Amino acid sequence: MLPIDPTKKNSFQRRICNGDLVIVYERHDIMKAIKVCEGSELQNRFGVFRHSDWVGRPFGSKVLSNKGGFVYLLAPTPELWTLVLSHRTQILYIADISFVISFLEIIPGCLVLESGTGSGSLTTSLARAVAPAGHIYTFDFHEQRAALAREDFERIGLSSLVTVGVRDIQGEGFPDEFCGAADSVFLDLPQPWLAIPSACKMLKPDGVLCSFSPCIEQVQRSCETLKSDFTDIRTFEVLLRAYEVREQRMGYGGGNEDGSLGSLPCKRRQFSSSEVSNGRENSSCSVMARPCSETRGHTGYLTFARLRCL
Ligand SMILES: C[S@@+](CC[C@H](N)C(=O)[O-])C[C@H]1O[C@@H](n2cnc3c(N)ncnc32)[C@H](O)[C@@H]1O
Repeated sequence: MLPIDPTKKNSFQRRICNGDLVIVYERHDIMKAIKVCEGSELQNRFGVFRHSDWVGRPFGSKVLSNKGGFVYLLAPTPELWTLVLSHRTQILYIADISFVISFLEIIPGCLVLESGTGSGSLTTSLARAVAPAGHIYTFDFHEQRAALAREDFERIGLSSLVTVGVRDIQGEGFPDEFCGAADSVFLDLPQPWLAIPSACKMLKPDGVLCSFSPCIEQVQRSCETLKSDFTDIRTFEVLLRAYEVREQRMGYGGGNEDGSLGSLPCKRRQFSSSEVSNGRENSSCSVMARPCSETRGHTGYLTFARLRCL
């Protein structure tokens, strides 16, 4: 279960129960979601792990295999869910998601409209942001995708915060029942400009819309449409740069004389005088920092606009 009270992290609150979904963490880039089922086992390169050994342990625990290998059992937060979910579509990642939630001014209690649902990556974080009293109404015209998203929200304990509808939002717009009721609207659609007139009707005065588009031509058309009813129209591209920081012995494969690692720029930390006097510098170990090679580049443009009050 994901935390539905945003003031509490459920990893500190709860112990793992039979039937819980846990994120089995090997490394930051090797994780998977598993439903705990007493009697079942997980087998991986570290050995065999019995689920029955996991029950009653707090989230975050390190658990051992029959061979002494280990994994961590983490709570399925939206951040981790985004990394382990099944990709049925392109998805939003955490850098864009955090920016969206801040700039849409989403807080507990908000009513948010979203389309398309896709793989539900953004929806999961939106749901936690509006919990416990708000709600996300998310629409996708692809029936099977909507059904799978619904199943996922059920599995991760979010179904009370999210309703998934099947609807062509570019063709029909959002349902009339939400007219003037939405605090924010989020669009991740191929032709968002077709849905903007409807989004405009759905928003409360001063409500904010965000549209995510991979191509600048989509942004241009959306901004043209936004001009008639919206103000404060701004487009951003969020580029995240992760760093790998580790101590490394120079001259053993990883580092070059000039302080670079491979072809990537790299900074070397200077040793302090006490480290020099205790001989640490002589061991030719340095703390190296370099941008991670797996850093994601362009994902898309985020266009925000505020509904003009008359
Ligand atoms: C890129 S995915 C959205 C990914 C989502 N933001 C996430 O983070 O997982 C775009 C979705 O929009 C849906 N879609 C495309 N055209 C649509 C339309 N006219 N009405 C509703 N959904 C539509 C597609 O079926 C697809 O699932």
